[in-house]
Amino acid sequence: MLLAAFLVIGGGLRFVGAVTTSRCCRLVSQLLQDDVFTADTTTYDRVNKDFWSATEQLEPSCVFLPDSAEKVAQAVALFVKNDCKFSIKGGGHSAIPGAANIQDGILMPMEKLKRIDISEDKNSVTVGTGSRFGEIYAALDPRNLTAMIGRYEKVGLGAAIGAGISYLVNKNGLAVDNVLNYQVVLANATIVNANATSHPDLFRAIKGGGNNFGVVTAMTLMTEHTEGAIYGGVLYYPESSLSQVSDVIYDYQVRQAVEDHMTHVLPQYGYNGTTGEAISFNPIVYNKNVNKFPKIFEGWLKIPAYKNTLRNRNYHDMSVELNDGFPDGLVQEQRVFSVYADAQLYKDFWASYHAWCKNYRHIPGFYGLHVNMPITPHAVQEGIRKGGNSLGLEDAGNRTLGTIYFGVTFDSLDDAKEVLPAHDKFVKSMIALAKRRGLLHRYIMLTYSGYNQPVIESYGPENVQRMLKVQKAYDPNRVFQRLVPGGQKIPARRYQ
Ligand SMILES: Cc1cc2nc3c(=O)[nH]c(=O)nc-3n(C[C@H](O)[C@H](O)[C@H](O)COP(=O)(O)OP(=O)(O)OC[C@H]3O[C@@H](n4cnc5c(N)ncnc54)[C@H](O)[C@@H]3O)c2cc1C
Ligand SMILES: *[C@@H]1O[C@H](CO)[C@@H](O)[C@H](O)[C@H]1NC(C)=O
Ligand SMILES: *[C@@H]1O[C@H](CO)[C@@H](O)[C@H](O)[C@H]1NC(C)=O
Ligand SMILES: *[C@@H]1O[C@H](CO)[C@@H](O)[C@H](O)[C@H]1NC(C)=O
Ligand SMILES: *[C@@H]1O[C@H](CO)[C@@H](O)[C@H](O)[C@H]1NC(C)=O
Ligand SMILES: *[C@@H]1O[C@H](CO)[C@@H](O)[C@H](O)[C@H]1NC(C)=O
Repeated sequence: MLLAAFLVIGGGLRFVGAVTTSRCCRLVSQLLQDDVFTADTTTYDRVNKDFWSATEQLEPSCVFLPDSAEKVAQAVALFVKNDCKFSIKGGGHSAIPGAANIQDGILMPMEKLKRIDISEDKNSVTVGTGSRFGEIYAALDPRNLTAMIGRYEKVGLGAAIGAGISYLVNKNGLAVDNVLNYQVVLANATIVNANATSHPDLFRAIKGGGNNFGVVTAMTLMTEHTEGAIYGGVLYYPESSLSQVSDVIYDYQVRQAVEDHMTHVLPQYGYNGTTGEAISFNPIVYNKNVNKFPKIFEGWLKIPAYKNTLRNRNYHDMSVELNDGFPDGLVQEQRVFSVYADAQLYKDFWASYHAWCKNYRHIPGFYGLHVNMPITPHAVQEGIRKGGNSLGLEDAGNRTLGTIYFGVTFDSLDDAKEVLPAHDKFVKSMIALAKRRGLLHRYIMLTYSGYNQPVIESYGPENVQRMLKVQKAYDPNRVFQRLVPGGQKIPARRYQ
């Protein structure tokens, strides 16, 4: 019932009950008996609860847990032949209902694809797409290596086909730009390598294309050689310090992150509806083995903090600390857009959000989060230098883009009807504000997007056309649209 209420609000959701799903489950369990789990099993129960947002806990017809790319390929062949709907789950951290789970269909998590193989020259690492960031950091840290993935322990590699902001984004660009190879199961059930020399058109399309082209079973990621430790933690500022924060965020985006590529900050404001209190908490890292921050970070240290966790540590440790604040199982919704960095606009975003959030104190467990992360000109250049992606960021030129995120959390889906449409409306009003000031950039980052945001369209017509061409070549029957309905999809009809 609760779920139904939520789904009604999401009028645009693309759930279509497939009549044949129980038959599909029977067929796949005949083929791969040990890997299929029905609703009466503890495995089904565990896997179906393993999502960050309660909006992702649906009722799949069964769970299929492949432990090799070959089994994924066998299953895809069967799904295509029998018109079976399925979902592809990485780390389960998308908040979009049905992005990685499915109502009436086969839930296919990557969790058993867990290899983490460091190359002999240590310049790359090949990971199974069931790996979480924390597991990858734990394997790389002791070798004085790291990879450009993301910052929170439990998040999965859906990030590295969507965009991906890591601790080293200012130096090396987005996660998608630091992938050397995707191993992909295509719609025709063949397993191919998509990289700079093999299927380069597919390679580029997947960098931002999410689950639109195939099931990615492994990725080879570039590594970064480290000094064995970093210095960082979280700076917590009280409500009384908040007026000073947005100028430092702006300075970080246009100066600190631009001039010193070893800097990383993840600026966040939070409003706790239970207490009515607002704070700012800022994961902040200097990607070198130092004992204190360099002068370039002094703006952050000048703001009175009520708590900090700064210390020498490794990436795994940092990822665990950050993830602790983001438990699974609550109702989550995220929305995002991009602007050209602007000091006044940043002040206005937070002031407006703070005021909006105060209307929802009566919602049990209400929490409003506003995050603002830069994509610097150098990060965009890294993407171009490493072969290009689907995102359409090149036209930002020499201006830093702010990735503007608004997210709401609360306890019960009962309240979705009241909060979520209002949140959508609020975010649209902020997009309109940026547009009026001539500061809106069209890019919508897939990994933080809301279900009804036009993500792929936001990459621009040239990229959409390129992606449609790749779809035509690799998935002419649109298997990954029709049978994998979840997540951000290529806008087929409008562009064909
Ligand atoms: C607490 C938290 C912290 C986060 N931190 C960061 C961060 O530091 N940096 C950052 O960039 N983002 C971050 N994100 C956002 C994150 O990138 C997205 O939520 C992303 O979708 C997570 O990928 P996943 O594999 O965990 O999610 P899932 O929900 O499992 O997958 C997301 C989408 O990708 C598709 N997909 C996943 N794996 C595959 C595959 N192997 N083949 C084909 N399609 C696949 C799924 O079908 C789904 O549509 C964070 C999110 C949360 C909730
Ligand atoms: C690219 O794909 C080809 C063909 O499968 C493979 O031989 C090569 O090793 C791949 N390159 C990378 C970087 O993985
Ligand atoms: C990692 O770097 C530290 C500091 O430079 C060094 O002491 C340690 O030996 C290195 N470890 C490896 C495995 O290279
Ligand atoms: C909000 O405040 C309440 C009461 O102090 C606390 O229990 C809860 O953990 C806070 N929520 C978050 C997300 O910090
Ligand atoms: C950015 O580019 C514009 C026009 O190309 C130029 O006028 C301006 O000086 C540049 N700014 C910076 C900071 O490089
Ligand atoms: C599957 O599609 C790929 C990409 O178009 C192609 O290279 C391959 O030959 C096809 N395999 C089969 C068995 O049709």
